[in-house]
Amino acid sequence: MSKVPLYYYSSTSNLTGRFAASLARTDGRPVRNLADPAVRKTEAPGPWVLLTPSYKAGNANEVTLPAGVRSFLRSPMNRRRLIGIIGSGNRNFGVYYQAAARQLAQRSGRPILFEFELSGTAEDVARCAAILADLDAALNASD
Ligand SMILES: Cc1cc2nc3c(=O)[nH]c(=O)nc-3n(C[C@H](O)[C@H](O)[C@H](O)COP(=O)(O)O)c2cc1C
Repeated sequence: MSKVPLYYYSSTSNLTGRFAASLARTDGRPVRNLADPAVRKTEAPGPWVLLTPSYKAGNANEVTLPAGVRSFLRSPMNRRRLIGIIGSGNRNFGVYYQAAARQLAQRSGRPILFEFELSGTAEDVARCAAILADLDAALNASD
């Protein structure tokens, strides 16, 4: 059964990257790093899921979606093929918790599939892997 690829962005602290690597280890999920310019230049070959952290710089109008993610989403094909969003954040940011994932979900009409803090726990990885496996099954059934 084919697995929907996960495109993620992670800064140098690599918390989101660690979660993505755990997902890849858990069930062989293909993961691609949008911090890599070569990856940002590509187009997703089919349905894909985004995993993004939030970065709030201070004022309320400041964008929280990382530049690498915005650049990948400039492609109309990538926007069309995006089927769901996973967020990495930190509850210390209060009302801005998961702001990037939630704003994008609202704007794109795509669902938030899962949210976790920092690099997530082992339980978060297992729960998220199960959600993505359900998505794989649904996509393969509709092929
Ligand atoms: C400057 C800065 C701003 C942040 N802003 C937010 C925010 O608005 N909302 C949120 O939920 N988390 C926020 N975070 C937390 C990060 O999204 C979280 O630590 C994430 O796991 C970082 O992933 P990365 O290490 O892969 O870049 C912020 C972190 C930093 C350092």
